[in-house]
Amino acid sequence: MPGNFSRKPPAASAPSASPVSPAYVFPAIKKAVKISQTEVQLFSNYIYSLCGIHIEPSKAYLLETRLGKLLEREGCDSFTAFYYKAKSDSSKKLEKEIIDGITTNETLFFRDHSPFELLKHKMIPEVIDKRSATAPKGAPLPIRIWSAACSTGQEVFSIAIVLKELLGQHHNYIIKLIGTDISDAAIKQASYGIYNKFEIERGLPRECLQRFFSSCGENWKINDEIRSMATFRKINLMESFAGLGKFDIIFCRNVAIYLKLEDRVAIFNRIADALESDGYLIIGSTESLTGVCPRFIPKRHLKSIFYQLR
Ligand SMILES: C[S@@+](CC[C@H](N)C(=O)[O-])C[C@H]1O[C@@H](n2cnc3c(N)ncnc32)[C@H](O)[C@@H]1O
Repeated sequence: MPGNFSRKPPAASAPSASPVSPAYVFPAIKKAVKISQTEVQLFSNYIYSLCGIHIEPSKAYLLETRLGKLLEREGCDSFTAFYYKAKSDSSKKLEKEIIDGITTNETLFFRDHSPFELLKHKMIPEVIDKRSATAPKGAPLPIRIWSAACSTGQEVFSIAIVLKELLGQHHNYIIKLIGTDISDAAIKQASYGIYNKFEIERGLPRECLQRFFSSCGENWKINDEIRSMATFRKINLMESFAGLGKFDIIFCRNVAIYLKLEDRVAIFNRIADALESDGYLIIGSTESLTGVCPRFIPKRHLKSIFYQLR
């Protein structure tokens, strides 16, 4: 962390220079590289072009704290030098690491509880009823769920656990459960399905841990029966995702808060295109689509809000 570099050595460990003791040589103290206002503008434009995340000029510290280590690792002495290094990296590795560093991947299992209650008691049963009314007799029913901006996968595996508990071996269903995110590091962790003690303790009921995870050194790994229900892909919501097809249920939670209003409008319009006409959209508990996408109307079931197309 940048703060660590400015720490002075403790007084007790610095013997005074004297004729009998060699002069104390202070270790080279690296100063964290500071970002100038011009560089804040340069980087916020760059980050916006990479992932749509909007960084206010007042959030200079965010750039310093989240990108400082990368800048230092790359041996750059200014954010300008770091910018040009990233721009000229044809492998795009640095660009990906900048996205990993700047995105907030905060998530947890069964986050906010109520969307998963809604999934279990309303959305999945209704999707099954509606699809079985039109499907040929005996044909397996498709259930297509997308977790857009799924971070490290906890949301996807919470959905998979609900599906498993509700549908058992689900032989009569073709489940398409896909998790997408812009961060390579997040998608990689989601694909492995491995979580540390801290991540496991956040939201995962004990019985789910025992039933659906196996210990893996100091960590926990999701069992194959749950892992195999989901696929993960890197998708930037700022770009077209029409290739994903249509979904019965879409979770797009806690990502729009980082984006500009005009980008939220565009993304939720494209999400509306990706949703079946009778499908369901779940957004974050502190988010709203009022003034963002009038194609959706909010509906309430018990204590939960979900959205459907008009
Ligand atoms: C706070 S997490 C939300 C995770 C999960 N949906 C939840 O609510 O717990 C936000 C996620 O959005 C992702 N993200 C940010 N900008 C994105 C973009 N343009 N396209 C896709 N994902 C993005 C970040 O990488 C991060 O993993």
